[in-house]
Amino acid sequence: MENNRVGMAKKEEVASALKGGSLTRISHKKSTAMPNLPMDEMIIETAKNNDINELRPLLLELISSIEDASEFNVETALENCKQIIQHPNSYIYIARMSKKVVGFINFTIRKTILHKAPSGLIDEIVVAKTHHKQGIGKKLIAAAIEKCTKLGCCEVEVSTEITNKGAISFYKNCGFRGGSVLLEYDID
Ligand SMILES: CC(C)(COP(=O)(O)OP(=O)(O)OC[C@H]1O[C@@H](n2cnc3c(N)ncnc32)[C@H](O)[C@@H]1OP(=O)(O)O)[C@@H](O)C(=O)NCCC(=O)NCCS
Repeated sequence: MENNRVGMAKKEEVASALKGGSLTRISHKKSTAMPNLPMDEMIIETAKNNDINELRPLLLELISSIEDASEFNVETALENCKQIIQHPNSYIYIARMSKKVVGFINFTIRKTILHKAPSGLIDEIVVAKTHHKQGIGKKLIAAAIEKCTKLGCCEVEVSTEITNKGAISFYKNCGFRGGSVLLEYDID
């Protein structure tokens, strides 16, 4: 699977992505067609062990978004999520609306040889199809960038399949720039 590393979010783009208030508890308007109804509250929080089973439908959506998903299955993905939340440098943030998990993002902080400060790397993000284009993905990205900024990172990178044009447009819309290419060597 060839991936396209969309690039890193620059500081001013981070600032613009972060615009819109607190990132841990966000008011999110579900429908602009009903302006007089109370705002549905969206909460972004760190995933805990109890949350992992709720990720199953989203993991299935994530897997179905991959062009050749034959090497992936939801049971392994759930097990990986359990391991990731135990890892000190890895994070899964979930977005909840009306108590239901409607999206998540997974990212890791790591040191590279060239950069003075650590780099953030977003590996996966998914929002429930029923909740697309409501700004949830952008808020998850902003929450990840905020955490990376607090941890002293100098950049945040993201990669996606070169064929996932929707995700590439989404990431560019969130301020990611650059044309690096991430190639993969399959070991098994
Ligand atoms: C990519 C994804 C996470 C976007 O989530 P989302 O909540 O729908 O995105 P948002 O509503 O926050 O969109 C933010 C901006 O990106 C744009 N955008 C979102 N999806 C887009 C798409 N498929 N094509 C073009 N632009 C898109 C939105 O129009 C919005 O623009 P605006 O700020 O000018 O209004 C979601 O489509 C998804 O879960 N896809 C399947 C999984 C996937 O491909 N993940 C990425 C690879 S790991």
